[in-house]
Amino acid sequence: MNQPHDQKFRTSMLEENDGPGHNPTDNRTMGDIIARRFSRRSFLQGSLAVSAIAATVSPIAILLADDARAASASAFSFDEIEAGIDDKHHVAAGYDAEVLLRWGDPIFADAPEFDPTNQSAEAQGKQFGYNNDYVGYVELEGSSEHGLLVVNHEYTNEHLMFPGIVKIVEGKIEVAPADQKRVDIEMAAHGGSIVEIRKEAGKWQVVRDGKLNRRITSTTEMQLTGPAAGHDRLKTNADATGTKVFGTLNNCAGGVTPWGTYIMAEENFHGYFGGELAADHPEAANYKRLGVPEGTYEWFKFYDRFDVSKEPNEPNRFGWVVEVDVNDPNSMPKKRTALGRFKHEGAESIVAADGRVVFYLGDDERFDYVYKFVTSGKFNPNDRAANLDLLDEGTLYVAKFAEDGSFAWLPLVQGEGPLTADNGFVSQADVVIETRRAGDLLGATKMDRPEDIQPNAVNGKVYVMLTNNTKRKADQVDAANPRAENAFGHIIELIEDGSDFTATKGKWEVLLKCGDPSVAEVGASFSTSTTQNGWFGMPDNCAVDSAGRLWVSTDGNSPKATGRTDGLWAVDTEGEARATSKLFFRVPVGAEMCGPLFTPDDQTAFVAVQHPADGGEDWEGFGRPSYYEDLSTRWPDFKPNMPVRPAVVAITKQGGGKIAV
Ligand code: FEO
Ligand code: CA
Ligand code: CA
Repeated sequence: MNQPHDQKFRTSMLEENDGPGHNPTDNRTMGDIIARRFSRRSFLQGSLAVSAIAATVSPIAILLADDARAASASAFSFDEIEAGIDDKHHVAAGYDAEVLLRWGDPIFADAPEFDPTNQSAEAQGKQFGYNNDYVGYVELEGSSEHGLLVVNHEYTNEHLMFPGIVKIVEGKIEVAPADQKRVDIEMAAHGGSIVEIRKEAGKWQVVRDGKLNRRITSTTEMQLTGPAAGHDRLKTNADATGTKVFGTLNNCAGGVTPWGTYIMAEENFHGYFGGELAADHPEAANYKRLGVPEGTYEWFKFYDRFDVSKEPNEPNRFGWVVEVDVNDPNSMPKKRTALGRFKHEGAESIVAADGRVVFYLGDDERFDYVYKFVTSGKFNPNDRAANLDLLDEGTLYVAKFAEDGSFAWLPLVQGEGPLTADNGFVSQADVVIETRRAGDLLGATKMDRPEDIQPNAVNGKVYVMLTNNTKRKADQVDAANPRAENAFGHIIELIEDGSDFTATKGKWEVLLKCGDPSVAEVGASFSTSTTQNGWFGMPDNCAVDSAGRLWVSTDGNSPKATGRTDGLWAVDTEGEARATSKLFFRVPVGAEMCGPLFTPDDQTAFVAVQHPADGGEDWEGFGRPSYYEDLSTRWPDFKPNMPVRPAVVAITKQGGGKIAV
């Protein structure tokens, strides 16, 4: 999540903890400067927005860009859509984009139909959860037309979910304090969904009575495994073993492993904890490094385990990577502590040449790190059960980027280098519980908010999304984070030595510096073939299709930030068209674009529209019912700010065939 709207909403508060990137000065940032530029213009209509931006480009620049375009055409042949802003989604001509699953849709035969005026935790626990971020697909019997869709429900936007809790006080929106019922619904709306889906006559359908359908929530029982399992620092009043925990929080991106399990990455878990911890408590420094407790949500007022003054070890039981065996709906999800504890964005993986499996991990905070995990054991493609605990043993590495274009993966192993008892790392449990501090001591490179990291099986490269960091000062710039006040983010490409994903060093390049290339101060680096619709800011999630081509989705484009909504862009990474980007799909205003995910046959792209209408109080378009549902026809209490529904959208080519050729 990364919404630049007002602090009055808790979603933005989750982004603003006083982490190491906190800048106490009043210096103007590049973001402020750009925001001011855009706010002077009218961006209330999408087509006007595009022409307004285009007007800043000189005719000579356009001429030169046209020449370059002719010489280096994008490998993507679809007709680009116009960037802009409205309350609908848009996809390129010749494609269909149909809503498959929305918040509240029943996913069991006995689940009630969605009714936000009569919602309960029990109903929500049988319905598709709120904000959908990661989307994965697990084939059933090797099919690209019948499988399990796995979807993370990252967080809740109460002001968009619950009727009648928002009021205007002196021109500002206030959300009413939570009660127990609301908190329980919120907890049931978090987590993940596993839903059987099938394509029939070219159209995807939900199989409501699918035997493997499952909801995972903030109360589902889970097992802690790996080096920190059973450690004293994970023991609580409710769990003297330090191995059992209820629920998973803030599951952002994720992954599907080569053996077909579902990975949920716990990201901004700090916001769910409240209360006060004594300054001299043994966990005080650990929690400060992670921004715990932030008290964004009010759960701690109703459940002691979220109050650090009452249950000080509970936050050590979150911030992990969770693995779910989707083949058994009764299986207990496992928190795999070997992969470290931080604000995990995702965990995309690939099988290396020698059979070990490599997971790439981002820690989404300003000035935090890029990681990877290499399993000790090898993937066995003929024995699924033999792979099920591969994530309990292996080596966790943190990245250090050098100015000369090389990088090294530094092992986070107790007893090596500074990771000793003298520095508080008595065992590997301490190393994984305080992964960030271990990375600090090793001198890892402080990055501009690492998000999704995607290995590419076709060309052996790895793409790292770095979404933004407006707090980086000029004297903190380095080659891998080349812009101060980096409002729009960038993408780095890694080439592991010998294209071996288990290598401990390699070379890197900046693939893209994001933002409007026609605004000189932004310093963006899209190719000159990129049109005014083709550039984007704030890369977040990404996918690689089976042809090895990169697709990037964004979080943070908005009327004020870039004059366009978030969307899905296709990015050329090879040849003369490298760094050319084209807009394929865009979301309604206020939404973040998540997913994206291609089925193995490349004939469907699933995308996740998170929090449509968030911040929409500033957008005239949401004074009327949304494209996602005309609520006024169903609920008499409908108010203009009331829910539009996060949704997973299935994109297919009209008449069939691969999404892009
Ligand atoms: Fe939940 Fe880093 O985005
Ligand atoms: Ca994200
Ligand atoms: Ca991805």
